[in-house]
Amino acid sequence: MPALSPLRALPLVLLVGACSQHTTRLAAEGTGDLSNPAAPRRAPDSALVASCGDGAEIAPRLDRRPYLQRVGAHDARVLFTAADGAPIEVELRRADGTLVAAHPATRAAPDEPWSVGFVGLEPGQIYCYALPGITSPAGFRTAPQTGDVSFVAFGDSGNGSSNQRAVYGQIQTVPFDFVLHLGDLAYETGRASELESRFFDVYRPTTRSFAVFPVIGNHDDATDHAAAYLRAFDLPDNGVPAQRERFYSFDWGDVHFVALDTERVTAEQAAFLDHDLTNSKQPWQVVLAHRPAHSSGDHGGLASFRETFGPVLKKHRVPLVLSGHEHDYERTAAIDGTIFVVSGGGGRDTRPVGWSDFTAYAESVLHFLFVELRGGRLVVHAIDGVGREFDSVAIDRPLP
Ligand SMILES: [Fe+2]
Repeated sequence: MPALSPLRALPLVLLVGACSQHTTRLAAEGTGDLSNPAAPRRAPDSALVASCGDGAEIAPRLDRRPYLQRVGAHDARVLFTAADGAPIEVELRRADGTLVAAHPATRAAPDEPWSVGFVGLEPGQIYCYALPGITSPAGFRTAPQTGDVSFVAFGDSGNGSSNQRAVYGQIQTVPFDFVLHLGDLAYETGRASELESRFFDVYRPTTRSFAVFPVIGNHDDATDHAAAYLRAFDLPDNGVPAQRERFYSFDWGDVHFVALDTERVTAEQAAFLDHDLTNSKQPWQVVLAHRPAHSSGDHGGLASFRETFGPVLKKHRVPLVLSGHEHDYERTAAIDGTIFVVSGGGGRDTRPVGWSDFTAYAESVLHFLFVELRGGRLVVHAIDGVGREFDSVAIDRPLP
């Protein structure tokens, strides 16, 4: 059982009244359920750097260095931006140096990233890619078709501040396979220049070798309905065509992930969620969204999330829903079979959080989540900006 927080006894109304106080804390002061400690720390890209290299720039032709998108069991895409319109090739090799393919990058429009897609890859394998003459090789690993999964998740990651970089420093100490960003990537208004300086410039060592699967935050949506976000990210286009890439799903190992758009909560999106979960064959499901369904923080839970998506989550017994938006950490007890975790402490700042009837643990702290599926047990670890694991929860479910 989690230790009692000193905030727990206070009526929620008093805490809501205190929300104008914006504090920034790196380290957690309380302690949740720590009966499921994380695996030993190690840099997520150590095997990739050893096999391929670090993707160093050889010639300065790029505006945004190469980054990975849509990494799956059999495919991956390499993207980059360059004002220079001259052809640039991307070459892919196995870790033993064997050439797999080399293709010239293409782009759909002058303001879109250049992109090369590789298909026919083997699951769970390290591949090395390079832009000959422009970057040295960097590595990535394709998704396994089944089995264990580990990823990091965080939201509200800030404005390039030292807090954002402190949390990122800790993210780089855990062995993840990919990243879920829970929204609000680019403060204040999701402009292209903000996305560049506050997301790509900060996380380059990660985006070079790991896919990022984001959701749209309210700040990202604030300029032209997330136009810069939608240009920068190449996401699965299995959602509704008119809302292309605003919500989507993908598989990684034994887990099916569904990313929702909480800026436009619609019956159409709920129907997509229902249909998508009905067709999923994976034994585990994780749903990610920016605005939370349940929250004791600054904004509170989003009623339309509960009303529109809640019955679908309950119908499919989705075990875990991750959100951001609140600049705090909060984990609920199971609500209709689902544990909801708010993780909006990626670096922007922290704000006070209360405790509600549904709260299992809450802290106002800068942090990220490290989530592992190992041997049929899904464990969520919450780790603060100085590297302390301050809460964890294990979800056991019989596999079908
Ligand atoms: Fe937000």
